[in-house]
Amino acid sequence: MRKKGILITGAAGEIGDALIKSLAARDTHDLITMDLRPLTPENARLVTHIQGDLLDQALLSRMVSEYEITIIYHLAALLSTRAEFSPEAAHKVNVEGTMGLLKLASEQSQWRGDPVLFIFPRSIAAYGMPDLETKENFPHVREWEWNYPVTMYGCNKLYCELLGTYFSDHFRQLAAERPVMLDFRSVRFPGLVSAYTVPSGGTSDYGPEMLHAAAQGVPYACFVRPDTVIPFMAMPDAVSALLKLASAPAGKLSRRVYNVTSFSLTAAEFQERVCRAFPGAQISFAPDLKRQGIVDSWPAGLNDHDARRDWDWSPEYDIDRSFDEYLVPNIRKRYQTK
Ligand SMILES: NC(=O)c1ccc[n+]([C@@H]2O[C@H](COP(=O)([O-])OP(=O)(O)OC[C@H]3O[C@@H](n4cnc5c(N)ncnc54)[C@H](O)[C@@H]3O)[C@@H](O)[C@H]2O)c1
Repeated sequence: MRKKGILITGAAGEIGDALIKSLAARDTHDLITMDLRPLTPENARLVTHIQGDLLDQALLSRMVSEYEITIIYHLAALLSTRAEFSPEAAHKVNVEGTMGLLKLASEQSQWRGDPVLFIFPRSIAAYGMPDLETKENFPHVREWEWNYPVTMYGCNKLYCELLGTYFSDHFRQLAAERPVMLDFRSVRFPGLVSAYTVPSGGTSDYGPEMLHAAAQGVPYACFVRPDTVIPFMAMPDAVSALLKLASAPAGKLSRRVYNVTSFSLTAAEFQERVCRAFPGAQISFAPDLKRQGIVDSWPAGLNDHDARRDWDWSPEYDIDRSFDEYLVPNIRKRYQTK
């Protein structure tokens, strides 16, 4: 018999790093992780890590010959800025990689006679506001509004949400018998800020970059205007959203894609908070007009009413707790010990 296992792709990334620790502390199933990169030694002890490419079908086949996958947390992706530099590579990883995993989850759902749960994080990059006036007029965007992404990453992820919904609700709709279908659930995150990892390749990275630079006493030039506003969330809330959505009873869910959010603030307000915590911080503003255009197309805030209603979502870290209890003390400690 195969062992039951939970798969995390992109496990060496920012969310993966935090998710592994939470899952290892609570789950009885084996954790199998996959990434192009190795894990930290601390996380490697908690899981069986497959270092390799998500697009390698032979690798995936070997994995399912050994493990009965019950849940997939599909985190592997090329993020928004990176994807703009290599759109075809982004399409391969973000779309073809996701399609391969959805096929795998679909087949495994048949084998098990029980849906494989497919958890997929998305982001505000799904949205595309045409101009700043519209952004100001629609400050709390709902899941179905302004789905006109302007980045390759946003387009890739929006399509994959549709694919996931298709595989969950309509797969083989013309067949005589309906198959057991996978159970796709997606959260659209705001920009995430971790105290323990530094982001790379995203376009909301200016927030966390400011904090980590200030804590190290390194000057930082923010690549957006001071008045730029988008929503953010502390990493522990992001992990808790993934776990909460995964454990919600299917009957309670009225949608497959949910917004979640915590707080919105401008880049200037972010800077103020960073300077209050690290008085010597040298943060200037040097907007990069092209990256600015991308951030301007993202909403200033998300409406997460449906997540709150359907699966009791609410962030534990508001803006003050995020900075005062999670980010500042832990980032300070992180760089003091080095
Ligand atoms: N960090 C954020 O602010 C944020 C916000 C919203 C949504 N998300 C989403 O959450 C997911 C994880 O984000 P993250 O911040 O941890 O990203 P990350 O860039 O830190 O991690 C992604 C990981 O995927 C791996 N990867 C890339 N291509 C791969 C491939 N072909 N095969 C195997 N592994 C591969 C990378 O090596 C990396 O470790 C992404 O899908 C992203 O879209 C992140």
